[in-house]
Amino acid sequence: MIEDARAKEAATFFIESFGCQMNLADSEVIAGVLARSGYRRAADIDQAGVIVLNTCAIREHAEQRVAQRVRRLIAARKARGRVRIGLAGCMAQHHRERLLDRIPGLDFVVGPDGYRRLGALLAAEAPVADARLDRRETYDDIAPLRNPGIRAWVTVQRGCDRFCTFCVVPFVRGRERSLPADVIVAELRRVAAAGFREAVLLGQTVNSYRHGDCDFGKLLRLCSEVDGIERIRFTSPHPADMDGSTIAAMAECGKVAPSLHLPLQSASDAILKAMERGHTVDDYRRLVERLRGDINGLALSTDIIVGYPGESEQDFATTRAFMEEVGFEHAFMFKYSAREGTASYKLGETVSEEEKGARLSLLIEEQQERAARINRALVGTTTEVLVEGPAKRPAGWLAGKNPQFKTVVFEPDATVATGDIVEVMVASAGPHTLKGRQLAAADES
Ligand code: 5AD
Ligand code: SF4
Repeated sequence: MIEDARAKEAATFFIESFGCQMNLADSEVIAGVLARSGYRRAADIDQAGVIVLNTCAIREHAEQRVAQRVRRLIAARKARGRVRIGLAGCMAQHHRERLLDRIPGLDFVVGPDGYRRLGALLAAEAPVADARLDRRETYDDIAPLRNPGIRAWVTVQRGCDRFCTFCVVPFVRGRERSLPADVIVAELRRVAAAGFREAVLLGQTVNSYRHGDCDFGKLLRLCSEVDGIERIRFTSPHPADMDGSTIAAMAECGKVAPSLHLPLQSASDAILKAMERGHTVDDYRRLVERLRGDINGLALSTDIIVGYPGESEQDFATTRAFMEEVGFEHAFMFKYSAREGTASYKLGETVSEEEKGARLSLLIEEQQERAARINRALVGTTTEVLVEGPAKRPAGWLAGKNPQFKTVVFEPDATVATGDIVEVMVASAGPHTLKGRQLAAADES
């Protein structure tokens, strides 16, 4: 009997995801591969026979977190029977078999293009690493095992060819490749049938998507035709790849949400050039003008790195001023982290940790105030919310996102359910959330 229970446990898995949405989507691919190999999802991590941490390598801090977590899991495992623990994803690819030496007890290491071989890796007797990149791998025949919800992540492109000087992604995810449009549309139909209401198309530079004669704008139009999917988002586009086809599709397709995450990194021309981003500040400014002119109600968010090698106080001041000029609704802001293997790694660091910290704090503070100001201007207006479920508080309230991807917490009408789109009157606003009351059907007319 005990043997039986052990065998059952050994055939279950649990995946923990770190990092970006691409990793969330990849974790669902990993789950799909494991399901195909006869494994089942465990109810929780303590009952799993196989534990996979799907890792991120973008900054050193991300890797440190994973290393700590996996060491703790390996230590905790001693009390249990045979549990196999492995690292997948970008950090796995970055350090490859070195991880097996550095983290005693680790059973397997598998990079972003190795998931198809997971079944074989798990059958191995000794610790193994599979870090072969494959420029053709798209997993287009693997059905992801999705976590239920209203938002489905759909990978449309893998890898990156841009080689921004600070970024490890092209090294750990390999060359850019796009999935066929018919595969993507079929996947959208499947997720719609499974009850999802929103699809987020994912790619490292998603707007450079191209398969045959289908570019990203055309893909957006094809995806818009899928019944049941009410909203389409995508992340992350690259400013230098933003063309008329994508902008027109965003402007013309009602289902494509008016929110855009457009990474800027820095608003100093000297730093943008050093980063090899492929555009100037003025290019970005003109792009924003065009986007706002063409797309109604567009919300913009961005990524900023502070302390890139050579970033002067003046460069930083220019970035601050430009963030205010654009008026980003949201920003992810990071301290530069030197990544081994990248072009900028060789430059060393020129801005101290302390100075980087000070620059980051200032940017975050200014962005909070900016976001709060932008959101306050929405008080008294109505907004459409795709309901995701109960709000954390107050009890009985619901939460969801509006088209601009802002979180809206609201007092519901009795009839509303998860997955519905409802009108909410905004009564108050903070930097991250809008609060309000659902309009009854009679109010809406
Ligand atoms: N250091 C700090 N931030 C980085 N990013 C990418 N590489 C680094 C790095 N080495 C940020 C960029 C990118 C986001 C996903 O992560 O802003 O857009
Ligand atoms: Fe990294 Fe640049 Fe590619 Fe984005 S576009 S993944 S920042 S190399």
